[in-house]
Amino acid sequence: MASVSKQKRMAKKAAKNSSATVTKAAAESTINGKGSTTKKETNSTAATDLSLDSLKISNERTANGVLTSQTRAKDVKIEQYSLSFHGRVLIENATIELNFGRRYGLVGHNGSGKSTFLASLAAREVPIPDHIDVYLLNQEADPCDLNAIDYVIRAAKEEVARLEKEVEDLLTENDEDPSLEDLYDRIAALDESTFQARASGLLYGLGFSQDMMAKKTKDMSGGWRMRVALAKALFIRPTLLLLDEPTNHLDLEACVWLEEYLKTYNRILLLVSHSQDFLDNVCDQTIHLTEKKKLNYYGGGYSTFVKTKAELEVNQMKAYNKQQDEIAHIKKFIASAGTYANLVRQAKSKQKIIDKMEAAGLVEKVEAPSTFKFKFSDVEKLPPPVLQFDQVSFSYNGSTNPKDLLYKDLDLAVDMDSRIALVGPNGTYLLIMLLFECLIELFFYCRRR
Ligand SMILES: Nc1ncnc2c1ncn2[C@@H]1O[C@H](COP(=O)(O)OP(=O)(O)O)[C@@H](O)[C@H]1O
Ligand SMILES: [Mg+2]
Repeated sequence: MASVSKQKRMAKKAAKNSSATVTKAAAESTINGKGSTTKKETNSTAATDLSLDSLKISNERTANGVLTSQTRAKDVKIEQYSLSFHGRVLIENATIELNFGRRYGLVGHNGSGKSTFLASLAAREVPIPDHIDVYLLNQEADPCDLNAIDYVIRAAKEEVARLEKEVEDLLTENDEDPSLEDLYDRIAALDESTFQARASGLLYGLGFSQDMMAKKTKDMSGGWRMRVALAKALFIRPTLLLLDEPTNHLDLEACVWLEEYLKTYNRILLLVSHSQDFLDNVCDQTIHLTEKKKLNYYGGGYSTFVKTKAELEVNQMKAYNKQQDEIAHIKKFIASAGTYANLVRQAKSKQKIIDKMEAAGLVEKVEAPSTFKFKFSDVEKLPPPVLQFDQVSFSYNGSTNPKDLLYKDLDLAVDMDSRIALVGPNGTYLLIMLLFECLIELFFYCRRR
């Protein structure tokens, strides 16, 4: 009898052949194969999970597209790609082109469908070749009895087993297959004897102390579990790594560390981030999910994208105006041609010019993107200092013992012109709460006045 994983693969192949359009419940598959109503991290193992729960067909998200790259290639090209979510078309007739060794930043306005697009790729709703393993990080590690290190290692062991299985299957089919070499390299790079040391190294980079590494994930906050999930993704180094706003929950130090780490990611990375610096420093390509629901590709990071797009738009506007002037001029001639036979003939041939232009597709006008408007009413100036902290110390339990104190003898003044950036390791946010409480008090004080 065929093994369970082989059965799954065969069933998957059959499902793929029976339909080019695959519809799946949004992010319903989970890493451990248990169905869940909440979003969980997904990877290719999860995406190929054919348990009943994960197969629950829903019409929430629909994607289709045609694979036009070679099935065994390391690059992926899918054309005529469309994606809908809850009946709303987010991407229409676009091309997905992801080349091996590239790091792509995905940009687009809020709600344009970036997260949905990543989730759809992770769930393999388009024909991504089987040998391209996909891992999406969009949710924290699930709360369980494993500590951070064991959580990362467990996933790495599963990955080694998966790769070994793939090698075994390929050897039985064709022992000359070019992807074997990549698989051997990946198994060697994972190297089980260094799991412990490398998992701790990654977690340390993401801000974990020794104590924190030994904590069970069920005793961690969401922010820390997000870091565990991130460490797991980085450890496995999938062929296609999808990161949805990975810097959320990271403090500045960890963000800087992650940036350095991802800069050298030499497989395919596709990430969404709201930080221009992060995109600039990590990505060498930018994909813009446009208001017209297309995926446009630009070389370079975010700043280059903004510059190139602005230049292209200036040129497009020039071409548009020139063409519109030409059309207006011709139309004017046609309107004034009257009934003289030779002028009518000329008018007809001029009309043909316009018809030709229209048939070839007119230059489109550059539409200004919708903008957000914020309005702050002018307020009366308060004399400085608006908030003053003198010698403020804080501990949760009220103790003055230095080891319990989060801050000691803090002097800080905030006035109307202050613009403050607060940086520091996790835990510093308490200071914001402290400031916020003072602001609320100040608000009531002002109201009373
Ligand atoms: N639970 C939901 N029900 C209905 N529509 C949703 C739901 N979640 C998201 N959407 C729609 O999907 C669109 C794309 O969302 P999303 O992929 O999260 O955008 P982005 O990540 O680019 O901000 C949104 O504009 C919204 O209209
Ligand atoms: Mg999003």
